[in-house]
Formats: sequence, structure tokens, C-alpha cells
Amino acid sequence: MTKRRVAILISGRGSNMTALIEAAKQDVYPADIVLVISNIANAGGLEKAREAGIETATVESKTFGKDRDAFEQALQDKLAAHKIDLVCLAGFMRLLTPWFVKQWDGRMLNIHPALLPSYKGLHTHERALKDGVKIHGATVHFVVSEMDSGPIVMQGAVAVRDDDTPETLAKRVLSIEHRIYPDALRLVASGGARLEGGVCKTDAKASPEDTLIAPTVI
Ligand code: GRF
Repeated sequence: MTKRRVAILISGRGSNMTALIEAAKQDVYPADIVLVISNIANAGGLEKAREAGIETATVESKTFGKDRDAFEQALQDKLAAHKIDLVCLAGFMRLLTPWFVKQWDGRMLNIHPALLPSYKGLHTHERALKDGVKIHGATVHFVVSEMDSGPIVMQGAVAVRDDDTPETLAKRVLSIEHRIYPDALRLVASGGARLEGGVCKTDAKASPEDTLIAPTVI
């Protein structure tokens, strides 16, 4: 099996990054995490990646100021130098230009803490609680130019409780994120996901018993 070479782009603590690194330790996993890039010099995830023996790089967006093209060219150079096949955004807090997105068309994933297309953008848990939704979750999707909008690869859901705070809800959603991101990357890296008319199709099955109803009434 030829493993796909994956780079993870982060800006923060990197818990999803860690979940991907852990999953990729399995011999049968179809991807190798070969590079972690942060746009923030002191991102906590950088240290975790180094401890895991993964090469890291910092391409500090701050130093490029408003010159997004130069920032993205620097990113692109690093990715090319490491012969990267697939890019995973994991808490990467920079919007990417159409040029960069095009370089990675169908080869770049992101994880978002909501069931897209609901709650694009920030503060997803606060907004979901305010709306009183009963089911919330996380989405792994291909990246397109429009924010939080690309073809959905995988979603995971949790029941929302009446006494949830943004923090308690975030915690349960995050544990779902740590399950679906490695699974979604496994699917994509093994060639099990295909894009048809802007929608991601896969041969993986959803079990017919996979029903989540919330709240449950006896
Ligand atoms: C996650 O909630 C992810 O869905 C969002 O940013 C957060 C990153 O967390 N895109 P971490 O750095 O992976 O812990």
C-alpha cells in the first residue's frame, strides 16, 4: 500500500491533529502525517507534533501582514518541498484564497464544529444552544473557496442536553471530531470517497440502526 503524504495545518492546541497522528500510527492506515505547519509561532500543537516525532514548520501569517499571496506561496512551497498529497486543516484560523484552494482542489479537508450547512463560521456551540437545536455535531468536508461550504465527507452528531453550556457541548462535539476526522481521512486517502456534482459519495455504509433522536421520551 502506498501511503498518502499528509500535512496538517494548525493555529492552536491541535487536538484534532493529535487524533490524526495517533490514527496514522496504525500500519494499515492509508496516510502518513509527514508535516505539521502552524501560522502561529507558539501554537500549542507544534510542541505536541514534535513530541510525536513529526516534522514541524511555522509560516507565520503575521509577518506577511496583508500580503496573503506571499503567505500562501510560502505555505505552498513547504507543501511542495515535502511532496504532500493531502492537506488537513485542523483549527487553522486563516481564510485561504481561491488560488490556494485551487492548488488543493479535492485534496484538502477541514473539520468544522457543527452539522454543516448549519452554523458556518465561529461560535457554533453558542449559536446552536441559543436556537435550542436538539442535535448538534461536527463535519469533515472538502475545502472550497467559500468558507465551511465544500462537499461533506463525514458527520457525527450528539444529542444536546437542556443543561448544556457552550463548554460542555464543545467537549462532547470535540470527542466526536476526534473520531470522524481520522475516519474521514482514512476514507479519502484510501480512495473511498469520490466527488460527483459537488457532492461527496462513498461506498462506506451508514448502518440503518444509526438513528439519533433527542430528547428521548421513554
Ligand atoms: C475544532 O473545534 C475544529 O472543529 C475547529 O477548530 C477547533 C480546533 O481544535 N475547526 P483543535 O486545535 O483541533 O484542538
